[in-house]
Amino acid sequence: MQFTREEAAMLDGDAGASVRRAMQLLVALGEAYGADRMVEVSSVHLAGPNVAILDNEPIDYVEEMASDGTRFRVPTTTTTQSVDWDLNRELAIPGENQSKQERLTRLFAQMGAILTHTCAPYIAGNIPNWGEHIAWGESSAVIYANSVLGARTNREGEATTIASAITGRTPNYGYHLAENRRGEYLVIVEAPLSDATDYGVLGHYIGSLVGGGVPVFSGVNQATTDQLKQMGAALASSGGVPLYHVVGVTPEARDSEEAWQGCRPRETIVVGEREMKTAYDHLCKATVETADVVSLGCPHTSIQELKEIATSIVGQRINPRTMMWVNTSAATKMLSDRMGYTQAIEAAGAFLVKDTCPINSQALSKAFVVERGYKTLITNSAKQAHYSPAMCNLMPCLGTLSECVRWAVAGRWSK
Ligand code: F3S
Repeated sequence: MQFTREEAAMLDGDAGASVRRAMQLLVALGEAYGADRMVEVSSVHLAGPNVAILDNEPIDYVEEMASDGTRFRVPTTTTTQSVDWDLNRELAIPGENQSKQERLTRLFAQMGAILTHTCAPYIAGNIPNWGEHIAWGESSAVIYANSVLGARTNREGEATTIASAITGRTPNYGYHLAENRRGEYLVIVEAPLSDATDYGVLGHYIGSLVGGGVPVFSGVNQATTDQLKQMGAALASSGGVPLYHVVGVTPEARDSEEAWQGCRPRETIVVGEREMKTAYDHLCKATVETADVVSLGCPHTSIQELKEIATSIVGQRINPRTMMWVNTSAATKMLSDRMGYTQAIEAAGAFLVKDTCPINSQALSKAFVVERGYKTLITNSAKQAHYSPAMCNLMPCLGTLSECVRWAVAGRWSK
């Protein structure tokens, strides 16, 4: 790999031992993937870590860096954490997670991180421009940045996002290169898509077919940012998709020629109503009709979604046996407080949860759901439905935002 004078100095240790170690890690990664050089990144979104499954050693390592004066040199935001300091008791978030999270957050803040604590940093101020190189973690944020914003990032992990934040660099390979951003699979969408949940179901279906490939959707002539957010999160969880294009909608597919960059699709996939129903049935595993846990906001809700939830729920009470989470970022919650949406949601008996979610907090442990007799998780998110059997010990069912609210009030869901 070739290095600039500044990068060579970092490797020589001129900026300290932690920076040298970080550069060495990025160089090893770059060499493994055949990168020719480093690129400067304009922002970093720190990946995880989920403290519920993190032992103390990596936190000790971050402490070492923070204490030797190492600081993040580019704007760096934090992803969803494992706690909501105002609701830990109500949500039954384990005490051990709280102390580990407190320590890690303090260290990241000391190093200069912006404590967004969200999987949707693009609605909390970290909005890279088209063509910018970035180093982001959290799969739903990565696919949104690549596809909807046209920024360039690989799917980074905890160690590499920290290394990029303290060096301002990432190796030039993978989705940083134009030739790896061209379409690979043509997806002809014939089924009507009426809301964000449909986009999530479509993403789930295609992710499971294309694995880590780049799908190009045609026949989807418009989509809101929330719909694209749901589709991307599902693509990235049922498959490992880091980038997709929607012809006429996303910035690197203003027309189909641009999406394919002169290549032909490896395969064409047609999605009609039958395929959508198959994907929906695959996600919807709940066999009992009680609405035990209702979880909205995966990825974290936008203010528009909070408005829709508040409008659907205002003046009603959710069923006393139902636990309802509405997950968002602290930044969006502040706006929601101001708009009166928080009050409407909380008056109905639901929790407006900031900074975390059922999966990252691991609050819905096996012991907790058994104790409460919970069996189902109702959500508008295909990603959350995909993960909830393994991560939340609950069988999912999918609905639109307003259906989920209706089911939370009734305490029952229906197809
Ligand atoms: Fe975000 Fe948690 Fe879903 S981190 S994408 S709300 S699983």
